[in-house]
Amino acid sequence: MRLILLGPPGAGKGTQAKVLSQQFEIPHISTGDMLRQVVSQGTPFGRLAKGYMDKGELVPDDVVIQIVQERLQLPDAKSGFMLDGFPRTLAQAEALDKALQVSAAPVDLVINFHTSQEVSISRLGGRRVCKKCNANYHIKNMPPKREGICDSCSGELYQREDDTPSTVMNRLKVYEEQTKELIGYYKAKGILRRVDGDLEVNGANRSLLEIFKKEALK
Ligand code: AP5
Repeated sequence: MRLILLGPPGAGKGTQAKVLSQQFEIPHISTGDMLRQVVSQGTPFGRLAKGYMDKGELVPDDVVIQIVQERLQLPDAKSGFMLDGFPRTLAQAEALDKALQVSAAPVDLVINFHTSQEVSISRLGGRRVCKKCNANYHIKNMPPKREGICDSCSGELYQREDDTPSTVMNRLKVYEEQTKELIGYYKAKGILRRVDGDLEVNGANRSLLEIFKKEALK
């Protein structure tokens, strides 16, 4: 199964991708996670990416496209993948199509997480992430058993630097201006399906599984 999860910040793409990647045994490829890893290494490229991410702007296409192309070459992506946060521009979508044409393995489905702005804002404001294993929590919706501590690995939970109110607002604006047009792009290809991103986690997962069943995807 080759899947793209599309939707605004806070739609729950990462949360669903983690569950689906276990359910279907395919890698969850998140450009946000990959970029945050590079940022944490403090390389010149990491510093460049951080400048964009801290403001809620997109990292330049050529850089992100190269990272994804390299990731898709790894053996675990040969039998399928779940892209989360990529593509985010028309140029990225076209580059992905071109890269997949070579292996004659196009994207099967694009899931559009239709999410209201109020929900996105409230989810991002309360998000906490584990420093060690990247697990995702929410102070109200999905609180950890012990405050500030990851249930899975006891790592410390932190608030992402781009989850501040002003950066969240800019990320939502950037989504509207630069990413939302991909809905039309994939609709025209006949591979776009919609889920209600405002649903709670299990409800959204059930909707996704129903879509995959209907499409006979494995
Ligand atoms: P990225 O990390 O991709 O951020 P994003 O797209 O803004 O998405 P989020 O991770 O914020 O939201 P999500 O939909 O995954 O929600 P989540 O499941 O975590 O990108 C960050 C930055 O990197 C970008 O701004 C850009 O600078 C750069 N970048 C990345 N990719 C790029 C690209 N392709 N090109 C250029 N630049 C790029 O959930 C959020 C919260 O809600 C959590 O607390 C969770 O616990 C909770 N929650 C989730 N689902 C539910 C639910 N159903 N009900 C209740 N609570 C829920």
